[in-house]
Amino acid sequence: MTDHVTLFEMGPRDGLQNEKAMIATADKIKLVDMLTDCGFSKIEVTSFVSPKWVPQMADASDVLAGITRADGVSYAALTPNMRGLAGAQDAKANEVAIFGSASEGFSQANINCSIDESLERFAPVLEAAKAAGLPVRGYVSCTVECPYDGATPPENVLRVTKAMLDMGCYEVSLADTIGTATPSGISRMLDAVLAEVAPELLAGHYHDTGGRALDNIKVSLDKGLRVFDAAVGGLGGCPYAPGAQGNVATESVVAMLEAQGYATGIDQVALAKAAAFALSLKETA
Ligand code: HMG
Ligand code: MG
Repeated sequence: MTDHVTLFEMGPRDGLQNEKAMIATADKIKLVDMLTDCGFSKIEVTSFVSPKWVPQMADASDVLAGITRADGVSYAALTPNMRGLAGAQDAKANEVAIFGSASEGFSQANINCSIDESLERFAPVLEAAKAAGLPVRGYVSCTVECPYDGATPPENVLRVTKAMLDMGCYEVSLADTIGTATPSGISRMLDAVLAEVAPELLAGHYHDTGGRALDNIKVSLDKGLRVFDAAVGGLGGCPYAPGAQGNVATESVVAMLEAQGYATGIDQVALAKAAAFALSLKETA
C-alpha cells in the first residue's frame, strides 16, 4: 500500500498573516474554497489573536462564516488563549491550535509571555476544548534556531512538545520558524523528540528561507513523520520572526512526495490554480 502523507495547508493563515495591506475577506474566502477543491483534509483558515498584533487576521469570524465547507475537511484556527477559543467556537472552527515556542526570546516576542507562562495559559484552553469535543493541535516554534536567542537546545523542544501532548494536544507541529535549519539540525532535533514521542504525534512545519525545507521534509519522512505543514504559493512569514520567509510551497511538497511514491490525495491542477490566485493576492496587497 502506498504510504499516505497528510498536508496541512497553511496558506490562508501563515501565508497571509504577514501581508501589510489588508486583503479583502471575500478573497480569503475564495482562497479557502479553492483549497477545499484541491482535496486537503486540513486547512488552517485564520487566527483568533489580537487585531493590534496581527491586523490581517481581524476578520477571522467573517472568513469562517463565509467559506463553503466540505465533508471530511477540518477548518482550523489559531487560539492563543480563552478569548481566542471562544471566538473559534462561535465561528465553528473544526479544530483549534495553541502555539508556543522552544525559545524564550520568540515566546516573548510572539505571545508576550515566557514559555512556562504560555503553558499555564494553554491549559484551560485545552480543558475547555476537550469539554467541547474540539481537537487541539500544538505548535512549537523555533525548534532549531531562534532569531533572538540563537541555536535552540533540542531538549527544550522535547520539554514543550511533551507538555503540549500531556495537556491533550492530538499532534504537535515542530516549526523551523525562520527557515534556516539544515537537515542535520532537523535530524538532531527530531532525534531528541523521538526518543520519547511517537512520530505519529508529530508534524513538520518548515519555512523555506534557506531553501532547505524540502530536504528537511525528506529527513523527517525518513524518521517516520507523515504530516507536514505547507503554504500554497510558498506564501508567508511570521510578523515576530524578522527576515523569515514563507512556509515551504505546498505545490513543491506535493510534487516531491508524489515523485517519491507517497500519496497525498491532492489534485495538482487545482493546486496550481490556487497557488496562482494566492500569489496574485500577495502582489495586489
Ligand atoms: P497580551 O498583550 O499579552 O495579552 O497578548 P492581553 O490579554 O493583555 O491582551 C492584550 C490585548 O489583546 C487586549 O486588548 C485584549 O483584549 C486583546 P486591548 O485591551 O489592548 O484593546 N486580546 C485579543 N483580541 C482578540 N482575540 C484574542 C485576544 N486576546 C487578547 N484572542 C496575545 C497576548 C497572545 C493575545 C498576543 O500576543 C497576540 O495576539 N499575539 C499574536 C501572535 C500571532 O498571531 N503570531 C503569529 C502566529 S504564530 C506563527 O506564525 C508561528 C507558527 O506558524 C509556527 C512557526 O512557524 O513557528 C504557528
Ligand atoms: Mg509558521
